[in-house]
Amino acid sequence: MNAPFSLDSNLDGARTQVESLLADRMARLASAGTPRRLHDSIGYSLLGGGKRLRPVLCLAFAEAVEPGASRRPVVQDAACALEAVHTYSLVHDDLPAMDDDDLRRGRPTNHKVYGEAMAILAGDALLTEAFGWVAGDGEAPRGRLCSELARAAGAVGMVGGQVLDIAEDRPATLDYLLRLHRLKTGALIRAACRMGVLAAGGNPAALAAAEAYGDGVGLAFQIADDILDVTSDATTLGKPTQADAAAGRHTFPAVVGLAESRRMADSFVRQALDAVRVLEPDPGPLAALARYSVERSS
Ligand code: IPE
Ligand code: IPE
Ligand code: MG
Ligand code: MG
Ligand code: MG
Repeated sequence: MNAPFSLDSNLDGARTQVESLLADRMARLASAGTPRRLHDSIGYSLLGGGKRLRPVLCLAFAEAVEPGASRRPVVQDAACALEAVHTYSLVHDDLPAMDDDDLRRGRPTNHKVYGEAMAILAGDALLTEAFGWVAGDGEAPRGRLCSELARAAGAVGMVGGQVLDIAEDRPATLDYLLRLHRLKTGALIRAACRMGVLAAGGNPAALAAAEAYGDGVGLAFQIADDILDVTSDATTLGKPTQADAAAGRHTFPAVVGLAESRRMADSFVRQALDAVRVLEPDPGPLAALARYSVERSS
């Protein structure tokens, strides 16, 4: 009989793999001649902690499609690119013109250390290099992966969601919040799942499962982020709390209350668990990661 699946050891192993893949790409940037201060600023944010959920999801979906696929360069490039785009989004999200936050991943935000100009440029470089990594040598399915990442990161993805978050005329309604969360956070999480499947050569049924799972986990993950902003503390979270109210953001707890927020997050996790059974009939890494998206403490 197999030992019961343990998220802790599995997540530790996957995160260690991601850390070394990212360190390798930073070394390549250095040897290609990246200006020293830019390299420092990029590395400060890219190698400075973080849960690594998006690359871990990408690797886990690839493994679910075909065991061993997470060792393929195309899968690893996709995983690193997802973390680079996510990290750029955080560096820019923290800027004074956006959320104006001083703490990220337990350390001063990038612009506090390197200044606003370098933080903007480090974000620009992370975004651009991410596409270079996915494009690689241009062999299939890299073109498809580039287009998935572009859609998730762009105007009708994460950036569009950031705009909805700060729109002056934004209504405090559930429908608007669902649309906002699906874009600002959900788009990249859906892409992480879909890109894992596509990079491993998964079939349309696997891609549909990744889409439904990513939709559920993406919504649940951002609802949990909103909840932790009001229930946690900065030391545990590694970023400021009570920040959404201070910035005047509409969040799930503010609009539907804490209890209903928790109920909705749980129901989105169930949607993910139901969807992923075609790929993972017995609960394994994907089921555990779905639960983790709301049960996490940071
Ligand atoms: C924070 O993302 C921003 C959101 C989209 C909620 P994470 O909670 O994944 O941040 P890190 O990468 O672990 O620091
Ligand atoms: C940011 O949402 C999501 C991004 C696309 C970066 P938040 O502004 O809520 O993220 P945190 O709470 O600062 O991590
Ligand atoms: Mg924000
Ligand atoms: Mg923020
Ligand atoms: Mg938040």
